Formats: sequence, structure tokens, C-alpha cells
Amino acid sequence: MTLAIMGGKPVRDTFLSYGQQWIDEDDIQIVVNTLKSSFLTQGPMIREFEQSIAKYVGAKHAVAFSNGTAALHGACFAAGISDGDEVITSPITFAASSNCVLYCGGKPVFTDIDQKTYNIDPLKVKEAITERTKAIIPVDFTGQPVDLDSISSIAKEHNLVVIEDAAHSIGASYKGVKIGSQADMTMFSFHPVKHITTAEGGIIVTNSDEYAEKLRLFRSHGIKNTDLLKEEGPWYYEMVALGYNYRMTDINASLGISQLNKLDYFIEKRRSIAARYDNEFSKISGVKTPYQSKDTNSSYHLYMLQLDLDKFKVGRREIFEALRAENIGVHVHYLPVYLHPYYRELGYEKGLCPIAEDWYESALTIPLFPKMSETDVASVIEAISKVVKYYLK
Ligand SMILES: Cc1ncc(COP(=O)(O)O)c(C=O)c1O
Repeated sequence: MTLAIMGGKPVRDTFLSYGQQWIDEDDIQIVVNTLKSSFLTQGPMIREFEQSIAKYVGAKHAVAFSNGTAALHGACFAAGISDGDEVITSPITFAASSNCVLYCGGKPVFTDIDQKTYNIDPLKVKEAITERTKAIIPVDFTGQPVDLDSISSIAKEHNLVVIEDAAHSIGASYKGVKIGSQADMTMFSFHPVKHITTAEGGIIVTNSDEYAEKLRLFRSHGIKNTDLLKEEGPWYYEMVALGYNYRMTDINASLGISQLNKLDYFIEKRRSIAARYDNEFSKISGVKTPYQSKDTNSSYHLYMLQLDLDKFKVGRREIFEALRAENIGVHVHYLPVYLHPYYRELGYEKGLCPIAEDWYESALTIPLFPKMSETDVASVIEAISKVVKYYLK
């Protein structure tokens, strides 16, 4: 039985989701203009969006994809992942971070997370390397960048490709440098709950000419269409690899261009709400606020509390349901990927990453997005204080 159900009025009248896009008139106008233009896809907006993202993050190339998952698939192709290759990644992530390895016939190897940051632990990565290891896919979980120096030096020593899954961390920085230029390839997602959206969309940024060329080939059927191939005639093109149609449309890209203009403001808002949460929740017994490493400046895709379950009369499930009854859209990110039934059938077993499994039991995502009003933020704080106090032993 939850508090609101027990006769009390919920803290909020309307449901507040954990994340939501911000769309304004500028976004609508640019999309309408694209709809009225000659190109709905394969037009100039793609190039402009790619160049704007590359400039923003400080990378040489950007290659846009229809979504972040397709972009990760492209990165695995460009890295040459194939049958039997091992790729090390974090268990605390969305399944796409490792599914992309499976798409290429590779084997995801999950190594445990760091107790403090919840990002992949570089020491565990090092221990998991075998002669079959080809790449590492570190994930900047919640928007806090992974320890990139350690990951890069391990990768260098063992000749591995680093594909940073930065779906959560556009605009974040590591040691003062914006995410996007430090790994071999870095992926950003533009799903509506992310910092900026193209509805569906993703991108790989890289400083490598070779990777950029392979990514472009892969996202468009593996077809090459350059002037050098035109001896046969002007119509001529060749398919030289098994690619896909993973192209972003100009409609999506134009929305991305307009959203990018607001990204710094969005991040500022996210950081200021997170600072407020840190301040309020550090005063409450039973919850732990997210640790931030001094080397990183998170862009806060998610804000997660950790419940000190020993201090409560009930489990996470009851606390979760009580907050939902207060109309607070709490969530849990993520079940360790290898515990999904599909992965279990592949042979992954419970107990593989004990820190990640423990962490999952007590994690709770609370609403955080730039469009939250002062009243929204206050209602989250009030509801959490109310529910936590009610259920503390
Ligand atoms: C960590 C992580 N990686 C990859 C993805 C996949 O991105 P997309 O939804 O754009 O395919 C997501 C999306 O939620 C994600 O959170």
C-alpha cells in the first residue's frame, strides 16, 4: 500500500516522467522548412548537422545514423569486429552497447563496474583481456565520463579499438576536454530522452579518416559512389561491403541542428537541477547521491539515487511504487545486460559482475530534464523526502 493510495493526496496531480524532450518554435520551423525543401533525405541538412556536431565536440569527422544503435553497429563494423572477436563492455548499460557486438558475430565480455562511479572499472577490463579481445566499449553512464586515460592506455598496450558509448554524455568533459575526441570512435544518441533529440538518431565522431570512410560506407548499403568509379558511366556505383540502410533523414538532421543551438543551455539546466538534488538529498538519511569524479564534468543525462536498503522497512519495489503513486516518474537504469533472458540463453550467468548486480538492487532514477519547472523539481524533492521518511526504520 502506498502513501497516496492510503488516503493522502499525491504530491503532484499530474505524472512527471523521468525524461522528456524540449521542442520550441525554432525546432518546428526548421523541420517545416526541410519538409518544404527538395530533400527529405540525402540532402544538405545531414552534412550541416554532422559538421556542427563535429565542431561542437572537437572531432574531425561525424557520421550520422538513423539511431544510436545503428551507429554502434557501424562502429563495430569499422573496428573490424567479426566472428569470435571479444569486446569488453559494461554490464550497467542499455542492451545496445553489447548487442552491436553480437550483430557482428563477436562476443560481449562484461566486466564489473567501479564501486563509486558505476562506470566500467579499468582494472577489471585489463584482467579480462585475451588474445581474442579486439575492442572496448566503455559507457559514460548517466553522463559521467569513464576514466578515459586508463581505458586508452590499456587499449594502446593491447592494440584495441576504443568505441566510447557516449549516449548519455554529449557536452560532458573528461579532464577539461569535451567528450568526442579522445576515443577512436564516440557514439551519441538523439533519442527524445537524451540531451538533444532528432526523434530517432545517432552519430559517430572520430578523428580517423579511415573509420569515417568505413562508417559512411556501412550506413548506406556498402555502396561506393565516387568520381573515380565513373569510367563505366555517370550512373555507375559499386557495392563493396555488406552495409545497411542506416541513414538519418534531412528532417531528423534539421531538428538536430536547431536542438544543438540549445545544448549548452540544456546542460546548464540539468547541472543546476542535479546540484539542487545533491544538496537536498545529502541531508536525507537512507539515500546516497551520485559520486562525481574530480576528473569529469557530467552532463547529467540521468540522476540516480542509491537506496540504503538496510535502513528501510521495505524494499526498493515498495519505495518505487509509492513514488509512482505520488506521480513521480521514477525508473531503474539498468538491469545488468547479461541478466536479460536472451543473454542468459547465450550462457551468461548471475554472479558474473557482483558489484553491478548489487548496485542494480538499490538504484533509483528520478526525473531530470531541462524543461522541468521549479515546481516540478520541488515536487520531486518533497515526494522523495515524504516516502523515504515514511519507510525508514
Ligand atoms: C547507453 C546507451 N547506449 C546506446 C543506446 C542506443 O541509442 P538509440 O536509442 O539511439 O538507438 C542508448 C539509448 O537509450 C543508451 O542509453
